[in-house]
Amino acid sequence: MLNIDLTGRRAFVAGVADDAGFGFAIAKTLATAGASVCVGTWPPALNIFLNLLERGKMDESRRLPNGELLQFEKIYPLDAVYDTNDEIPEDVRLSKRYKDVGDCSIAGVAKRFEDDFGSRPLDIVVHSLANGPEVKKPLIETSRAGYLAAISASAYSLVSMVQRFSPLMRDGGAFLSLTYMASERVIPGYGGGMSSAKAALESDTRLLAFEAGRKYGVRVNTLSAGPWSSRAASAIGIIERMQAYVAKNAPLTDPMTPADVANTAAFLCSPLAAAITGTTIYVDKGYHSMGMGTEI
Ligand SMILES: NC(=O)c1ccc[n+]([C@@H]2O[C@H](COP(=O)([O-])OP(=O)(O)OC[C@H]3O[C@@H](n4cnc5c(N)ncnc54)[C@H](O)[C@@H]3O)[C@@H](O)[C@H]2O)c1
Repeated sequence: MLNIDLTGRRAFVAGVADDAGFGFAIAKTLATAGASVCVGTWPPALNIFLNLLERGKMDESRRLPNGELLQFEKIYPLDAVYDTNDEIPEDVRLSKRYKDVGDCSIAGVAKRFEDDFGSRPLDIVVHSLANGPEVKKPLIETSRAGYLAAISASAYSLVSMVQRFSPLMRDGGAFLSLTYMASERVIPGYGGGMSSAKAALESDTRLLAFEAGRKYGVRVNTLSAGPWSSRAASAIGIIERMQAYVAKNAPLTDPMTPADVANTAAFLCSPLAAAITGTTIYVDKGYHSMGMGTEI
């Protein structure tokens, strides 16, 4: 039997704050394959997430095929727009959601991994986060600050994570991020510089795969998912239309699910994909290959 076996491996999935998005589905599938899974949660969403977990509100979605509940080995507060603790502005650090979480920068979380598990504690790092404060604005109306914020949270965060987590990876380590086809085709309504951020993310995936591959022997890939009504995607405001359009026009018309994304993610992070790096893999029921819709 050919199996995805991640027994004995540890994964960090950055960008999990509920059970509706791709990060949660990936965490669950990696755990199903035998990995220990730690997650990174944005401080503004951390308390709600911990409450939902404690009150059993996610027990149904946490149920693994073997009947056990998905357990997170650690839940680390992570704000991926900060590389080091010094960069977190005073007013943010002292604010309600940040004052008790400690160093939630990318370097801070890397340090916590080493403190908690020793050197080279990781095999898999998944970047499943994005933020574009002006996503509802057309690109032509986007401010410089909004554009740079989208790039910072959604693209540079991967560069910083590869920079700081590569030294923590064991042999055969794999990074994976999530991207969207708006990087290369026009998706009206996906604004605020988010399309630019995804283009940067895909381009950076190629160069990071080369640089981190040569320096650390790790792999870096990105998975281009079809539209799904996660919490983040609902903020775009047109997600249902995007899903309906894809369902009507893709080669495969049954809806794509987070499980489809998670299964491919598990494969890409497993030894079965040992020769795949620097690549954008589409998990979108084939929609990206279409040049024309089916109806005029
Ligand atoms: N849902 C879609 O249609 C779709 C399609 C293609 C790609 N993607 C990508 O998938 C990834 C996951 O998104 P999702 O749609 O599953 O939604 P999601 O809401 O489950 O995940 C986004 C996460 O990013 C976190 N986040 C935002 N800013 C952050 C920051 N500064 N630091 C740390 N975390 C931060 C949020 O708290 C949230 O947990 C994103 O990169 C998204 O662009 C989504």
